[in-house]
Amino acid sequence: MTTEDNKPKTAAFRVGLGDITPNNLGQLKRLNTVLFPVVYTASFYKDVLDVGEFAKIIYFNDVCVGAVCCRKENVAGSTSLQNLYIATLGVLAPYRRLGLGSKLLEHIIENAELPPSTGPKIAKMYLHVQTDNEEALEFYKKHGFNVAEKCENYYPQFEVSDAFRLEKVLVKDE
Ligand code: ACO
Repeated sequence: MTTEDNKPKTAAFRVGLGDITPNNLGQLKRLNTVLFPVVYTASFYKDVLDVGEFAKIIYFNDVCVGAVCCRKENVAGSTSLQNLYIATLGVLAPYRRLGLGSKLLEHIIENAELPPSTGPKIAKMYLHVQTDNEEALEFYKKHGFNVAEKCENYYPQFEVSDAFRLEKVLVKDE
């Protein structure tokens, strides 16, 4: 775990991001089970181990309280660009509004903006969120994401089945 400079809200506490490894994958699964109504597959968790800086756990005073998991997706017709899909990003309820979600997301944005040493650049970051999830909508808008589309019945298994697709474009069409 690396301890980083803390924002004023968490100045009295130790906050740090950690890699996801086979040793803490169980903690990630427990977090996601509490945070999200979706059950993620074994292949989801296998892939998380291979995305490097695009999957992280956040620790608050050495307790694992949140995580982000992304995946890279190919862009049709391009070998020089990829998109980054944020599949899950969440912080346990008692630890919200302390800047922890922002720390996770800023880490992902910073890494997505880095010019890659080899391979494709990230053109766009995107995600889906249920239309009634006002906290998440405010959160992502604060970080420069825009609503790109309303996806009707995106989550057919839920009472609120519609989702917004939010995106943040990093590389304009070249
Ligand atoms: N109401 C209004 N605005 C909010 C709220 C809220 N409840 N929560 C966050 N924000 C906005 C505010 O602008 C806030 O800044 P401020 O506190 O200075 O006003 C800003 O987001 C940053 O807030 P953080 O403290 O960094 O965010 P937090 O650590 O609370 O995490 C998150 C936000 C991840 C959305 C959290 O509420 C959560 O885990 N929710 C449950 C899981 C979830 O819905 N995840 C997102 C959808 S799934 C996906 O991302 C792919």
